[in-house]
Amino acid sequence: MAVTRAVESIAWTGDGLTVLDQRRVPDATEYLRLRTLDEVVEAIATLAVRGANVLGTAGAFGFVLGVRAGLDPDEAASRVVAARPTAVNLQVAVELAREAQLRGEDPLDVALGLLEEDRAACAAIGELGRRELAGADRLLTHCNTGALATTGRGTALGIVHAKAAAGEPVRVYATETRPLRQGARLTVWELQQAGIPVTLLIDAAAAAALTGGLIDAVVVGADRIAANGDTANKIGTLALAIAAHHAGVPFYVAATWNAVDPATPDGAAIPIEQRDASEVIGIGAGAPAADTAVWNPAFDVTPAALITGIVTERGVLHPPFGPAIAGLAR
Ligand code: MRU
Repeated sequence: MAVTRAVESIAWTGDGLTVLDQRRVPDATEYLRLRTLDEVVEAIATLAVRGANVLGTAGAFGFVLGVRAGLDPDEAASRVVAARPTAVNLQVAVELAREAQLRGEDPLDVALGLLEEDRAACAAIGELGRRELAGADRLLTHCNTGALATTGRGTALGIVHAKAAAGEPVRVYATETRPLRQGARLTVWELQQAGIPVTLLIDAAAAAALTGGLIDAVVVGADRIAANGDTANKIGTLALAIAAHHAGVPFYVAATWNAVDPATPDGAAIPIEQRDASEVIGIGAGAPAADTAVWNPAFDVTPAALITGIVTERGVLHPPFGPAIAGLAR
């Protein structure tokens, strides 16, 4: 089965970044050239570049571009980090680049290193997750955690790719992921490119799929994992976890270690990004009045108590997650 990467999500070209414009996929695979910090911030804020892992690498390159243009390094770092507050990967990557710069090193080396580290971490997660989820063939996932969101084959989707590469049966149930439809647009496309069976369902159908016996396990990504295991991920993840718990279906988080934030004690302390009402209201015929009140959090927090396991490149964590996370932190 063909399980090669379909696209490069991000690449450094010597004087800037080339990123796949994820707003256009699957209608078009168009690349954006980003040559300034402002362009990187704009791409991140508008979700042209999205997914926690690619946010981190793009952010580190954004910092490099800012510093090269003569911006104050602290200002450059804080402007990049502020572009999206929930994914701690962004903060971690920019801090690593900033620290290198403070030591008199080239932060570009950090950014380039992150590309490779992410690739390797995704491969390790895929293999560890494949073993952990042996026999779970029908996997429900949410949002997009694959080659578009990382520089490897992905985190949750990395497990799917590892299963397929090993010749094991696997079918993905991909939620649409309202409002921006990362599941319907990106995950379905990625899996179809790779020849992996995928069934699309609307977010509201997930509970019925779980209680109806269609799903062996849920596997999602993470934007931030607090010290106690509480996990922020795309809005709708919490509803999946509650439904999986009710249905007795295992619920897994798969994430590279840089999504783990030991400095955040629990989910209540994770900043949740609120996004513009226009994403929910939409445009064109049938849209509600433009001034309709909208609540549009981009993420929610799944309590650790609803999580069966967390697959990282350092190992698979099981409850109680506090000691498990502390044990693997270094
Ligand atoms: O708003 P998005 O599309 O950036 O949200 C992405 C997610 O929630 C992913 O699950 C998470 O970032 C992990 S990507 C490896």
